[in-house]
Amino acid sequence: MSVARRNLINLEKVSKSFGREPILDSVSLGVAEADRIGVVGRNGGGKSTLLRVMSALEPPDSGRVTRANDIAVGVLAQAADIDPESTVRSYVVGDRQTHEWSSQAHTRDVLTALLGGYSEEVMGRHLGPLSGGERRRVELARLLLADLDLLILDEPTNHLDVEAIAWLARYIRSRRELALIVVTHDRWFLNRVATAVVAATVAQVRHLLRQLGSFGWA
Ligand SMILES: Nc1ncnc2c1ncn2[C@@H]1O[C@H](COP(=O)(O)OP(=O)(O)O)[C@@H](O)[C@H]1O
Ligand SMILES: [Mg+2]
Repeated sequence: MSVARRNLINLEKVSKSFGREPILDSVSLGVAEADRIGVVGRNGGGKSTLLRVMSALEPPDSGRVTRANDIAVGVLAQAADIDPESTVRSYVVGDRQTHEWSSQAHTRDVLTALLGGYSEEVMGRHLGPLSGGERRRVELARLLLADLDLLILDEPTNHLDVEAIAWLARYIRSRRELALIVVTHDRWFLNRVATAVVAATVAQVRHLLRQLGSFGWA
C-alpha cells in the first residue's frame, strides 16, 4: 500500500514543436512528492525541452502544465545565465551571515564536496572567470542549499569528476523528501538516483514507470 503523495507538477497532453518538427506530442506526465524520475533518450530527443516545459521556462503549444501552488522548484539548466560580477558567496548563500551558514554541517558538507571548501578564497571568487566545471559546481551548490520541493537537473554530471558524481548520487539519496527529475546519460548515476524512467524520443515521451531493477539496471 502506498500513501497518497501530493502532485507537484502535471503535464496533460502537452505538445511542442519548433518549426514543423514535433518535439513533444501529447505528453502526459505527473511528478509527485518524493518521485525520482530519470529522463533518457538520444541527443535531440526532446529531453531538455521536456524539462523546460515542466519548469515553465518554455510554454507548450497546446495542452496544460499545472503546478502545485506553494512549491519551490530549482532548475539546473544545460546553459546557465549567471551574472559574471556576482561572487560565489552571494550566488550560493545569498546575504546570509557567514557564522549562520558556516555553522551548519549540511552546508559545510555541500560546499566542501562541490567547491573544495568555503574559505574566503573560495567564496570570494567572481563567477565570470570560472571554468564550465566550476560554474556547474557553484550552480549545484546553490540548488542543493536552497529549500526546494522539486529539483530539476539537466545533465548534472557533465563537467563533474567521478568523485563529485558519486558524492552527488549519495547526497540526493540522503535527501529523501526532495522530488527529482534528472536528464542524464550517466547510467551509473541514473541507477543510483532514479526509481522510474521516462524515455524521450522525438515526438513522444514513453513512460517506463517501473522500478529500474526490473530492467536489470539496478
Ligand atoms: N529554442 C529552440 N528553437 C528551435 N529548435 C529547438 C529549440 N530548442 C530545442 N530545439 C530542437 O528541438 C529538438 C530537441 O532538443 P532538446 O530538447 O534540446 O533535446 P535533448 O535535450 O534531448 O538533446 C532538437 O532538434 C533541437 O534542435
Ligand atoms: Mg538536452
